[in-house]
Amino acid sequence: MKSLFQAGRPVVGEKLIGREQAIKQIISFLVGGQSVVLMAPRRFGKTSILLEVLNRVKSQGLFTAYIDIFATPTKRILAEQITESVLANRKLDKVFANFRKSISSILKQVEFKQAIEDFEFILDFAETKQDESVLLSESIDFIERFSIKYNQQIVCGFDEFGDIEKLDGLEIVKLFRSKLQLQQNTSFLFSGSHESVMNQIFITSKSPFYRFARIINVKEISPDIFKNYIKNEFSRIDVKINPESLNSIIEFTGGQPYYTQLVCRQLEYLVTTNFAKSSSGISKQISINDVNTAIEEAFWAEINYIEKLWEELSVSREQTQVLISIVRGVDSVYRSLNLNQVNVSRALRNLKLKGVIKREGKNYRLIDPMLKYFICRDILKLDKAECIKSG
Ligand SMILES: Nc1ncnc2c1ncn2[C@@H]1O[C@H](COP(=O)(O)OP(=O)(O)OP(=O)(O)O)[C@@H](O)[C@H]1O
Ligand SMILES: [Mg+2]
Repeated sequence: MKSLFQAGRPVVGEKLIGREQAIKQIISFLVGGQSVVLMAPRRFGKTSILLEVLNRVKSQGLFTAYIDIFATPTKRILAEQITESVLANRKLDKVFANFRKSISSILKQVEFKQAIEDFEFILDFAETKQDESVLLSESIDFIERFSIKYNQQIVCGFDEFGDIEKLDGLEIVKLFRSKLQLQQNTSFLFSGSHESVMNQIFITSKSPFYRFARIINVKEISPDIFKNYIKNEFSRIDVKINPESLNSIIEFTGGQPYYTQLVCRQLEYLVTTNFAKSSSGISKQISINDVNTAIEEAFWAEINYIEKLWEELSVSREQTQVLISIVRGVDSVYRSLNLNQVNVSRALRNLKLKGVIKREGKNYRLIDPMLKYFICRDILKLDKAECIKSG
């Protein structure tokens, strides 16, 4: 049976919760011609929002395009993706994909011929030696030209846009900027995880896209919405979960969508296998112990990711020391460490820019609850149940 909880793949439709207000706002900006940037640390649900927004504007009759920059290692592939996803609005994406392999057969297809009539550059995709910068430049123009040809506004989603710099440094960002600002019929929805990179592209006054788009910070999902959702999902399989257990899940994850789903999925697995084993007639009720076991299972499912993250952070001893003292819950990171103030400030700033920590009032907090659990459990070697509680 398919799991009730999805952890990993983006969620849309009924499975997407707690984002209604944001989605409505984003759509009204986009339809009004204003571009939008979604910013959030990893696994906060950016792609889900982006896809849902595109689905909804598409059902309103607008054209859409979705391009995941993370999955485009070269400028040529990026150009192909842009062109293909724009052509998909006239169901010509498959023909285009085949066309790149075999030009002659496809050109016989009347519809495709008509569609590309005004866009001769598409023929260049069959030419392996074609300059990829030219293809990219043409494909960016194509977004708007296509929408004008069909007299239809288009919303174009660029997922993980911060990754664009990997293709050609800042040059390519500037190329996008110079072209996008001229497009009248197109609105853009960008998303990105790396705060420092996104700041450089969209926020600081020297950034190429300064004031180009409205910034929306994606936060954790509201605890009440998540708790209701979890309760309802479990009730589908006749499993009850009491308020105490629900609280302990949300206290641990803080409403971070991915980990909340992951813990619930482990919990579902645990209770369905346990209930299957136990004799019938017992009430199907989730206990705090079940929640603790599920969190531990979720931790093991994530261990590679967390260890890699820790390793990356360990390049700077100041960073790891600062993180440890935040997890310890000390009053002042500055006073607690045997480091000079400048070094502590630098580590705090870097950790903030990387999206690892966040300031809350006078204190700092780790954004990733599983990293926090890892530090508490494996570095400080504190009691597991205590580490879960202090989530
Ligand atoms: N609104 C939501 N409602 C329910 N679950 C969600 C929601 N948003 C995200 N999730 C959960 O988080 C997971 C990751 O979501 P998504 O891929 O959209 O995030 P992301 O920010 O794009 O992640 P990444 O940084 O890996 O690209 C989903 O598989 C799902 O489990
Ligand atoms: Mg994503």
